[in-house]
Amino acid sequence: MTERVLAPFGARECEVVARRETGGYVVFGALDSSGPMPAPGQFYMLSAMGWGADGGRPFLPRAFSVAAAEVAEGGVHLAFLLEAVGPGTAILAALEAGSHLTLTGPLGRPFSGPDEVNPGAPGAILIGGGIGIAPIAILRRDLSRRGVAARTLLGFRDEAHSGGFELFGECQEIGLAFEDGHRGHHGYVTDLLEVALKGDDAADAAVYACGPPAMLEAVRLIVAERGAACELAMESPMACGFGACFGCAVPLAEGGYMRLCVDGPVVRADEIGTALVAGAGHR
Ligand SMILES: Cc1cc2nc3c(=O)[nH]c(=O)nc-3n(C[C@H](O)[C@H](O)[C@H](O)COP(=O)(O)OP(=O)(O)OC[C@H]3O[C@@H](n4cnc5c(N)ncnc54)[C@H](O)[C@@H]3O)c2cc1C
Ligand code: FES
Repeated sequence: MTERVLAPFGARECEVVARRETGGYVVFGALDSSGPMPAPGQFYMLSAMGWGADGGRPFLPRAFSVAAAEVAEGGVHLAFLLEAVGPGTAILAALEAGSHLTLTGPLGRPFSGPDEVNPGAPGAILIGGGIGIAPIAILRRDLSRRGVAARTLLGFRDEAHSGGFELFGECQEIGLAFEDGHRGHHGYVTDLLEVALKGDDAADAAVYACGPPAMLEAVRLIVAERGAACELAMESPMACGFGACFGCAVPLAEGGYMRLCVDGPVVRADEIGTALVAGAGHR
């Protein structure tokens, strides 16, 4: 398993150094002057000025996958891709360069290398849905830096609920699916996965996925049927992000539960009983 990068103790303040709108989403960059380089699949708990103002929501920090990370002058430049869906994401999405946020991380278990997911796998198949493309983007760039071939399949509801394509850099091989059919395949991104896994390829595949629960559940069932090895980056409601509150419990295939914040968010698809986690947020 890829080593998880451990977070320094406690929360730290970081400067927001960039913000741009990308389709229906926002990308913002923060300079982490004292944290380590995260591994793809890890996440941070973020909060900002205005959190809990006047006793209102949000009270707790919110979890965000790191979408890109580069060593920069003065620290590590972290990029996050987000969609404003509630009070916390609305505050974060409005942060301008020069403002500050509070961050804890990197947290959680990262993606494994294709060889660890499926020894002998010639490459990887990456599949992202909606805002869940964030950890797929950093994984795609990491694999390409390491010379690992990867096919990338991205799916969105419609134009207003899509964006962040530039996070994939010069990666040309992206298969697109839109539910409203205005671009790419008309339908679900999992239709493209079924095609990619046709024939004998499935047993050699190393599949990675992140997206809404319904998409992850479809991926989980497809790879189980085809005998393909797969890791899923999942969401569940997270209050602490480091194992203390048990708010993020997800049922295991063999019975019992895991805490997604420390035993995930990246899990093996055959490790969990279902990807349909209540309160995960994404449609
Ligand atoms: C490990 C992990 C990684 C994550 N990575 C990202 C990321 O990279 N980018 C990102 O934007 N989000 C990400 N999320 C989801 C993000 O944490 C939530 O969207 C956020 O907590 C919402 O906070 P809020 O205060 O804005 O809304 P809340 O008060 O939490 O929710 C308000 C309302 O919006 C609904 N809702 C919450 N989240 C979503 C959603 N994503 N889509 C649609 N409806 C939603 C809720 O069900 C509720 O009705 C991640 C979550 C986890 C656990
Ligand atoms: S979020 Fe608190 S234990 Fe996982």
